[in-house]
Amino acid sequence: MTHFKTVALEHASRLLNHGPTVLVTSADGARRNVMAAAWSMPVEFTPPRIAIVIDKQTFTRELMTASGMFGICIPGVAAVDLTFAVGSSSGRTVDKFARYGIVAASGPVLGVPVIETGCAAWLECRLIREPHTEEAYDTCFGEVVAAAADTRIFENGHWNVDESNGDLHTIHHLGAGKFVRASGMLSAAPL
Ligand SMILES: Cc1cc2nc3c(=O)[nH]c(=O)nc-3n(C[C@H](O)[C@H](O)[C@H](O)COP(=O)(O)O)c2cc1C
Repeated sequence: MTHFKTVALEHASRLLNHGPTVLVTSADGARRNVMAAAWSMPVEFTPPRIAIVIDKQTFTRELMTASGMFGICIPGVAAVDLTFAVGSSSGRTVDKFARYGIVAASGPVLGVPVIETGCAAWLECRLIREPHTEEAYDTCFGEVVAAAADTRIFENGHWNVDESNGDLHTIHHLGAGKFVRASGMLSAAPL
C-alpha cells in the first residue's frame, strides 16, 4: 500500500528546503536512468523552480537534455545504500533499475520515472533550458510540475519528523559514502 499523496505545488519548495541528497531520475524513449545528487535547491516558490548540478559527463545529463525532463526523488534512511550505489556507477554501462531491483512508476504529468519505495517524496520537473549555466556550471534549472510525498513524514505542506518514521528521515551526504540523517526537529521560538 502506498502512503504517497499529491503535494500542492505551492508547497513543493519545502521538499528540498533542507538540502537532502536526492535521486535524479531521467528517461528518453526506452532509455531510463537514476543517479544520486547532493547539490540541489529551490530557487522560486511560484511557479516552483529548482536548481540542480548535474555533471555534463553523466548519462543522466544526456537523457534529461534529450527529453527536457527529469525527476527528483528524496530517499530516506532505508535507501542510503541504494543512493550511494546509483551515485557510484553509470547508466551507460548498467541498467541500474534492473541491477538494484528499483521499482519506478511514471510521473503523472511528464511520465518521468518516480521512485516511492524507500523514498519520502518525489518531484517531476520540466527542464528549463539555460545553455550558459548548463555549460559553464553544470547547473540545470527545472520547473516542478507535480509532486507527492509519503504522508507518514510530509503532509499538508509540512514535514513531521519523529521516531515513528525513522526509515524516511532524509539523508545528507558528507562525502565518501558517509551521510547524516535529518532527525531531530526544532521549532524556533520568538525572541
Ligand atoms: C551521495 C552522492 C552525491 C552526488 N552528488 C552529485 C551531484 O550533486 N551532482 C553530480 O553531477 N554528481 C553527483 N554525484 C555523482 C553521480 O551520482 C555519479 O557521477 C553517477 O555515476 C552518474 O550516473 P549516470 O552516468 O548514470 O548519470 C553524487 C554521487 C553520490 C554518491
